[in-house]
Amino acid sequence: MENVTDYLRQNLKTRFIGKRLHYFQTAGSTMDIARDLAEKHAPEGTVVLTGKQNVGRGRLGRYWLSPAGALATSVILRPPARKIRLVPAISSLAVIHALLNMGVRADIKWPNDILIGGKKVCGILIENGFNKADLRYSVIGIGINVNFDISTFPEIAEIATSLSMETGKELPVEEVALQLYTELEKLYARIGDEAALIREWAEHMETLGKCVRVNLGSRTIEGTAIGVNDSGNLLLRLDDGSVREITAGDVTHVKDR
Ligand code: BTN
Repeated sequence: MENVTDYLRQNLKTRFIGKRLHYFQTAGSTMDIARDLAEKHAPEGTVVLTGKQNVGRGRLGRYWLSPAGALATSVILRPPARKIRLVPAISSLAVIHALLNMGVRADIKWPNDILIGGKKVCGILIENGFNKADLRYSVIGIGINVNFDISTFPEIAEIATSLSMETGKELPVEEVALQLYTELEKLYARIGDEAALIREWAEHMETLGKCVRVNLGSRTIEGTAIGVNDSGNLLLRLDDGSVREITAGDVTHVKDR
């Protein structure tokens, strides 16, 4: 990612996302850097970007692998608190659109994993900063496996993929970042149109119609994913016919039940 800052400064045509850009060749976690900036009143749209993280973190306290060839970025947004439930939809759709602009089709696994052929190519972590009940900022962390061979990482080799493995060629990471910030800004501008956003999110969600297993932490439930509601929660029809609303959890697509 040489000259990535020059490339983005010259070519990024957004109004605010990426206008303040903090680029690091290597970082600990872009989440920590972005949260620190957000606490210090960095303007909305400030981004932290790196090609390699030493201690990337994922959802549910997991480690996130970001070796050389990865894209790891965190974007500071300050949405109104009542819109916070739309952030997973906006951020996952931004990745879907950005990849499509690069000629790559991908799907969403609820709430915001990005899959190609059932394997994870991108993960999204959203961390919010509150002052009592007031939402002060939302940091959107996006990690995309761009140019690296997943088979060299046995711990994720079976469940993950990368853009270079899917397309058979290396993609310019700075262009993936440019597309991502551009699409994120466009989707964020649509935050008022909740119904349309949720509808589009659901259209790209391969979870829907599938039998899924949801790890709720203390226990696991299985059912058929039948939709997402206005709050972005997953609706699961259980074997007894009842419908359960899932607000958070880890979803696995189950092939045979
Ligand atoms: C997940 O699927 O578990 C979410 C992974 C999120 C990874 C990104 S990479 C950029 C940002 N910095 C981090 O430490 N994590 C997020």
